[in-house]
Amino acid sequence: MKEYADLKEEQRRTMETPVMHANFILRVMYLGVDIIFGRKPSLPKFKVIEILARYPYWAWEIGSYAAVTRAYQALSAPPEEQMKTAIRHIDMGRDMQDNEQWHLMLIQDIMDQEGIRPDWVRGVFLPTCMATGYFFITRIMYRLNPASSFAMNARFESHAEHEYMKLVAAHPEWEDRSVESWIFEHYPKQPTMADLFRRIGLDERDHMEDSLEEYERLTGKKLI
Ligand SMILES: [Fe+2]
Ligand SMILES: [Fe+2]
Repeated sequence: MKEYADLKEEQRRTMETPVMHANFILRVMYLGVDIIFGRKPSLPKFKVIEILARYPYWAWEIGSYAAVTRAYQALSAPPEEQMKTAIRHIDMGRDMQDNEQWHLMLIQDIMDQEGIRPDWVRGVFLPTCMATGYFFITRIMYRLNPASSFAMNARFESHAEHEYMKLVAAHPEWEDRSVESWIFEHYPKQPTMADLFRRIGLDERDHMEDSLEEYERLTGKKLI
């Protein structure tokens, strides 16, 4: 996790930076989330975003694991470069999916503390349908064209970073509210609820930057 000295300054930087363009799949997904939860940022909406956010990382980890297995089924050792890439993707996938998991658990814990409970259709059924679709899309995409998976993830994370900073801006009362959670055994505690969500938004920025870096490493070109 990168260190940021001034979270408010970083929020300002996010708001001054344009969000990356979404591809067709992401636009359909955002539309689905907006239809289910409305356009305004809300914790149930972010819970779904966090559920979805873990799937590409899972795909990188599991997909590379499968690639290592296939490669070592041959009689001689596979090319070193190919294995270094697989190891890098496994490491990235593990780190980032754990980070998203803390986000998901924190949001659910805060929703429970605040008594926020969406109905079964919006809270369970529709998110499960979306997650099932995204599961297959991310697995297939990584298997067929890993670079496209990193590109889509960078776009997704750019959107998430901006949405979190908008959420904080929409809740000025969070600037004075402290937050307690058992998840702080795993995730750095912040002085206020506003700073907690700024910090989560910056994690999404880090995920975007790491995904962009990997896209460039794989393709030799910048993503536009
Ligand atoms: Fe997240
Ligand atoms: Fe993320």
